[in-house]
Amino acid sequence: MKSFVVAGALATGALAQSGAWQQCGGIGYSGSTSCVSGYGCVYLNDYYSQCQPGAATSTTLKTSTTTRTTSTAPSTSTTSTASGKLKWLGVDESCAEFGSGIYPGTWGKDFTFPSNSALQTLMSQGYNIFRVPFAMERMTPNTLTSAISTAYLANYTATIDYITNAGGWAVLDPHNYGRYYGNIITDTAGFQTFWQNLASKFASNSKVIFDTNNEYHDMDQTLVLNLNQAAINGIRAAGATSQYIFAEGNSYSGAWTWNVTNTNLAQLTDPQNKIIYEMHQYLDSDGSGTSATCVSSDIGVQRIVGATNWLRQNGKIGVLGEFAGGANSVCQTAITGLLDHLKANSDVWTGALWWAGGPWWADYIYSFEPPSGTGYTYYNSLLTTYAP
Ligand SMILES: *[C@@H]1O[C@H](CO)[C@@H](O)[C@H](O)[C@H]1NC(C)=O
Ligand SMILES: *[C@@H]1O[C@H](CO)[C@@H](O)[C@H](O)[C@H]1NC(C)=O
Repeated sequence: MKSFVVAGALATGALAQSGAWQQCGGIGYSGSTSCVSGYGCVYLNDYYSQCQPGAATSTTLKTSTTTRTTSTAPSTSTTSTASGKLKWLGVDESCAEFGSGIYPGTWGKDFTFPSNSALQTLMSQGYNIFRVPFAMERMTPNTLTSAISTAYLANYTATIDYITNAGGWAVLDPHNYGRYYGNIITDTAGFQTFWQNLASKFASNSKVIFDTNNEYHDMDQTLVLNLNQAAINGIRAAGATSQYIFAEGNSYSGAWTWNVTNTNLAQLTDPQNKIIYEMHQYLDSDGSGTSATCVSSDIGVQRIVGATNWLRQNGKIGVLGEFAGGANSVCQTAITGLLDHLKANSDVWTGALWWAGGPWWADYIYSFEPPSGTGYTYYNSLLTTYAP
């Protein structure tokens, strides 16, 4: 990456030029609209223009103390490049992880499984990836290295097979926050065995994706690295070699803090080279996904752009494993900007999954359960325009 050192204001008083991959325009943006030498300001959507390589004609400006290059975007720069295609667009499919803390709990009372008819409705509209949370305590009761529960696995596998037999992609999501029975997992060898045991059951299904764990948080950063690596090692040792692996990060895998929190995860290795970094992003004030109010109409792009840059600078690929917004016009504009940004940066972003569908969400603010979930009725027509 080309860096730009601010060495004083231009004689004209103009702002410093934006660096490689940095923002250079968009609604609500007040910084420089020109880029460093070799980069041009490319319109991605109404909220975000970005300095991209080679997209400009340059002229050199002389000032009293420094020589600078200013970039003039070519006339084509107003054409959206948001024509990239997402590989995946889908929905998180909840409920097998419900009844948190009640283990094993009772099927039909504490937890249930996604509805096939809801999955069919979504797939028929173009959604092609579903992330299916489950509780590790139900999959392998008592210890990480226990045998897998036949009954829970059978029900879970029925959902996974329903998705993949219809041509969709299914993400196996131990929805455990890096914890087991409430305690942070520190036994990386045990965690590797857990993954080896589980992945062996899905080794022949190439439409399955393994998500190491949901939303590590408040954990030692090296432990998060080591747990991810242990999961990768266990999955590959199980003979599951064709599948993608989604690696999640600390701080709830938040995209908005990824470039300061999870930088060590660039060290993860996979002999199959199929790691995809799964980040989550909500648009409410604390980013927790508990409010229907979005901070602003451009908060989607604002919160994701640092992650986009991190992925590109590190030669990595990402997926937005959870996102959502309330059913209102501010959130709708923010969600549109977010998805446009992912699409325009589809060299590093593979797709996005809405949180969440599932039969027991009732009147949850983001429910994507057809036919009447709040999020589904408000956002389905918008989201399907981004379907692969
Ligand atoms: C699995 O699903 C069946 C219904 O199809 C249910 O009777 C059974 O209790 C479930 N078991 C578990 C462990 O989920
Ligand atoms: C991280 O990304 C944010 C934008 O989301 C940016 O403002 C910040 O400078 C980045 N930090 C680093 C260390 O790259």
